[in-house]
Amino acid sequence: MAEHLCPVWIGNLLSSPLRKMIQNPEKILLPHVTPGMTVVDVGCAMGFFSIPMAGMVGSKGRVVGVDIQEKMLHSLKKRAVKAGVESTMDYRLCVNGSLGLEDLDQGVDFILAFAVVHEVQDPATLFAETFRALKPGATFLLCEPRGHVSQQRFGDTVAMAQACGYRVVDSPRVPISHAVLLEK
Ligand SMILES: C[S@@+](CC[C@H](N)C(=O)[O-])C[C@H]1O[C@@H](n2cnc3c(N)ncnc32)[C@H](O)[C@@H]1O
Repeated sequence: MAEHLCPVWIGNLLSSPLRKMIQNPEKILLPHVTPGMTVVDVGCAMGFFSIPMAGMVGSKGRVVGVDIQEKMLHSLKKRAVKAGVESTMDYRLCVNGSLGLEDLDQGVDFILAFAVVHEVQDPATLFAETFRALKPGATFLLCEPRGHVSQQRFGDTVAMAQACGYRVVDSPRVPISHAVLLEK
């Protein structure tokens, strides 16, 4: 069952550089993101992960930031310009429950959904749409906050992803998070 959306003021806190002391985006993403990749950050908020990922994929890659709140994307755009990665970024506003990834059909190398799925009204649609967007064999790192999301609930979420066709290939250690690496 989905909860309230993350308010914009929490979005600001989540993009604080202090968070990197606990959840370092480069460390978390290094095994999964390489130069030239097309990656999607579902529920990107203000880009705590999107902006470092833009640096990691480089000028030949692309980062698609998807969020349901226009204000989050607006702030991400400003931060991407400031970080000098604007030309690598692409933005999608989630409308009517859809992530709007149809044009990327089987063209995506990696997807991140960090602390998002517990807010999503219809996670099955999210998993079906991301599954379609990924290349065969490409991966999806699913992380949910420990404490906020129970082990049981995380297990139910992973089962929903599996019902959409994903396979669990790893359970990486991600600070204060439940995490699984899914593969198409
Ligand atoms: C708790 S924040 C996490 C942000 C970011 N992933 C991070 O770890 O810093 C959750 C984000 O997911 C977004 N969100 C919630 N439901 C969504 C949906 N159905 N589609 C896309 N984004 C969504 C919210 O607007 C919010 O920006």
